[in-house]
Amino acid sequence: MLIVAFGASTSSTSINRTLANYAAHLLPNVEIKLLDLNDYPVPIFSEDAEKQIGQAEGAREFLAEIAQADALVISFAEHNGSYTAAYKNLFDWASRIEQKVFQNKPAVYFATSPGPGGASNVLAAASGSAGYFSAQLKASLSVPSFYDNFDLATSRFKSEQLADQVAQTVQRLLD
Ligand SMILES: Cc1cc2nc3c(=O)[nH]c(=O)nc-3n(C[C@H](O)[C@H](O)[C@H](O)COP(=O)(O)O)c2cc1C
Repeated sequence: MLIVAFGASTSSTSINRTLANYAAHLLPNVEIKLLDLNDYPVPIFSEDAEKQIGQAEGAREFLAEIAQADALVISFAEHNGSYTAAYKNLFDWASRIEQKVFQNKPAVYFATSPGPGGASNVLAAASGSAGYFSAQLKASLSVPSFYDNFDLATSRFKSEQLADQVAQTVQRLLD
């Protein structure tokens, strides 16, 4: 079983990429491919840009990564209550190639931020539209106050309760 995991962020220190990687590694007997969205560069989307270049190669490659997955673990970063511009831009290009961006794959969605809101706004948006983009969403979880709750040095949650919640969420992929 190949799990494709990514944080919906291009930050080199993305806590959402860290969380997606952590959660994916809780699954037994799986192969994990952790994407870095910087590896799928695309120009700023506009219909004019699309007329000029057609499909963006980075978006084609991103869709190909999803195509080879048996399941997806995605953690959404929140900027001003919504998706990061970089993720939304890549997603927009991808959606013009294949509107069913998530290609009917089983998925779990996480979101985290340094604050108590835990990026719950973007998680609600992503969860609400999952079906429209053909993700089989099995479960979702917002993790608040990431730096307070997760020990980056040991890659462990400080709170057993949160660790359990993350584990239960990702295990829904195996149902
Ligand atoms: C422009 C900008 C806007 C942000 N807006 C929000 C926000 O609306 N809600 C939130 O919880 N965090 C917000 N943050 C803080 C991010 O959650 C934080 O930078 C986090 O590390 C982003 O996730 P990442 O590390 O995976 O990229 C914002 C950060 C930036 C730079």
